[in-house]
Amino acid sequence: MDKAAICSLEDVSKLYRVKKGFFSGKTSLIRALNRVNLDIKREEILGLVGESGCGKSTLARLVLGLERPTSGQIRFEGVDLSALKGRELRGFRKRAQMVFQDPFSSLNPKKTIFKIISQPLKIHNICPKEQLRNEVRRLLQMAGFSNPGVEDRYPHEFSGGQRQRIGIARALATRPDLVVLDEPTSALDVSIQAQIINLILDLQASNRISCLFISHDLPIVEFVSHRIVVMYRGTICEIMPRRAFMLSGRGENSSPHHPYTKFLMKSIPVPRPQEEPGCEKKGAEGQDTKALPASHDKIRAGCLFYSRCPERLGFCGRQEPMPVEVSKGHIINCHLFHFSKKEQSPK
Ligand SMILES: Nc1ncnc2c1ncn2[C@@H]1O[C@H](COP(=O)(O)OP(=O)(O)OP(=O)(O)O)[C@@H](O)[C@H]1O
Ligand SMILES: [Mg+2]
Repeated sequence: MDKAAICSLEDVSKLYRVKKGFFSGKTSLIRALNRVNLDIKREEILGLVGESGCGKSTLARLVLGLERPTSGQIRFEGVDLSALKGRELRGFRKRAQMVFQDPFSSLNPKKTIFKIISQPLKIHNICPKEQLRNEVRRLLQMAGFSNPGVEDRYPHEFSGGQRQRIGIARALATRPDLVVLDEPTSALDVSIQAQIINLILDLQASNRISCLFISHDLPIVEFVSHRIVVMYRGTICEIMPRRAFMLSGRGENSSPHHPYTKFLMKSIPVPRPQEEPGCEKKGAEGQDTKALPASHDKIRAGCLFYSRCPERLGFCGRQEPMPVEVSKGHIINCHLFHFSKKEQSPK
């Protein structure tokens, strides 16, 4: 069943102007996001993957209204974020929250856990003053802290995983409808990662929240997400339901993918490559030898992945690809699929 979008991005671009050098007065433009069209549906976890610098955090900041797009619109429940002011903007801030990557720097070391979690409760007038302590305890319990007195301790008294759970409790304090998690587990130990992931899954289901889950870790993204978006240099390459992502069956994967998605999938280390059909050349060799590094990419028109794409056709460097729906909810932004659909090959 398709659920309505809680947040939608329509043709969103974000450009940053940066100085060319420390002493240079010249500037250049960085296109962090390039005409992104995307829906975050109600009660879904939307996974977002892509290499470093592809624009994931920029997209997160725009969705939360922390920055404005250079062009295009972002709507939250149909309302344009750029039109929100005063009370309406505060109302939106209450309903859209963020969990940060680094649990060490995201909590103020000078404040007790009570102060940290009660702050959003006070700002948004969520409960009367005399009930603040009970509400903070309830939130901490939800995040797995059952010992009394936890709220009177300081952040430095907790481990990384515990701090991240406190960060999650703080994000849920305003009872948000949308939570953006920007690499919430990447600073944590592998054993703690599983704890945090399970907590996120439990809380998302019990509170019926929509989540944008950003990560570099493809297996984690596959595990938590209902749908997955793959981004490359500010553009969306592919949007797919989890069943089409299927990392576990990489060898005999029957779903078609964008060449960049395949490239990302191939980069995952495999413990016993000889036991996985079709995965004999994993690890460093698994990287495609024809692929060029991003810095060699001088293509201005056409597909942005052109110079690194092992399946490129001459045509791909000249014309921008359009999205093709290869199966229900599975969209690939690549010329190869247009041509296979029309059963003709370009020159
Ligand atoms: N405030 C800013 N000023 C100038 N450039 C910026 C700014 N924020 C982001 N960028 C640039 O925009 C691009 C996308 O950055 P972003 O932080 O969104 O990437 P990312 O996908 O989150 O990377 P990572 O996985 O490393 O966190 C990068 O080239 C970055 O240098
Ligand atoms: Mg980032």
